[in-house]
Amino acid sequence: MPVYVVTGCSGGLGLGLVKALAARGDKVYATVRKRATTATGEDQISNVQGDITVIEDIDVAKDDVGAKLSAALAGVKIDVVIHNAGGIANRDGPDAPTGAAAFADGGGGPMGAKPDNLKAVTTERMLASFQVNTLGPLRVQKALTEQMGAGGKVLIISTGMGSIGDNNSGGLYAYRTAKAIGSGGGARMAAAGVNMVMRNMALDLKTSEIAVMSVNPGMVLTDFGPGAEMMAKFGSMPVEESVAQLLAICDDVCTMENTGKFWTVKRGAAPMEFAGGF
Ligand SMILES: NC(=O)c1ccc[n+]([C@@H]2O[C@H](COP(=O)([O-])OP(=O)(O)OC[C@H]3O[C@@H](n4cnc5c(N)ncnc54)[C@H](OP(=O)(O)O)[C@@H]3O)[C@@H](O)[C@H]2O)c1
Repeated sequence: MPVYVVTGCSGGLGLGLVKALAARGDKVYATVRKRATTATGEDQISNVQGDITVIEDIDVAKDDVGAKLSAALAGVKIDVVIHNAGGIANRDGPDAPTGAAAFADGGGGPMGAKPDNLKAVTTERMLASFQVNTLGPLRVQKALTEQMGAGGKVLIISTGMGSIGDNNSGGLYAYRTAKAIGSGGGARMAAAGVNMVMRNMALDLKTSEIAVMSVNPGMVLTDFGPGAEMMAKFGSMPVEESVAQLLAICDDVCTMENTGKFWTVKRGAAPMEFAGGF
């Protein structure tokens, strides 16, 4: 029975991944900051049936996350790590914007390019986004690699919004930069942000025969960014649809042959190597 570690499992894609993995009989260590989501205050992870161990107090944006994970997972042989925890990184502050305002640095991003986006981005937003989206996977993977062996897999949930070549709408400086990818195809996509972390890990872990990939989950109806109501208005796909393709990529594509590549969930089609678009 393969052993998975998935980060950010209180809601959204993380919760969906845990449900799907547990349903097929896999062992899942599901990490959360708290069982109840920041977005809704609901505890859903406690109700998922299966061989699940929930590890609480795991904030990937904090430097002590490695020590906490090592303690919680001592002696566990890990087959797959899915770095899912992340987002637009503006939910935690006392003045956290909601709705459309949360989906942009200054209201831009999918709402369109305009000078206000540049005016609104702050050093705090940039650093907060790097802490969770870029450094989060690095901290977690540094702590767990020694518990993995040949045949191990590392999947980083990235985003099409990090595509430099595909950015035609501006805004979201912090999120796009922290998850950035280049404008070419395939392995050449890996250029900056968490995708440079992914590419380096892929090279450094090659001799250990651990495959490392980034994946764009598509636009998914979660509490991401502006929240579920607006994500639904954008025509986002159900969590289960994205999760099915994410696991297909994890099972069949995340091999040493494809290590270092960036793939995407493709709604209404099969997953494919990222070539732009959501
Ligand atoms: N939904 C989309 O359309 C979409 C598109 C592209 C990429 N993504 C990516 O997919 C991943 C999952 O997002 P989602 O759509 O499922 O959004 P979500 O519903 O907002 O879930 C985000 C999860 O990440 C956790 N998280 C946030 N900051 C964290 C931190 N510092 N430490 C540990 N956990 C943290 C949240 O926990 P709390 O409840 O504690 O906040 C929550 O469990 C993210 O990396 C996101 O960037 C999503």
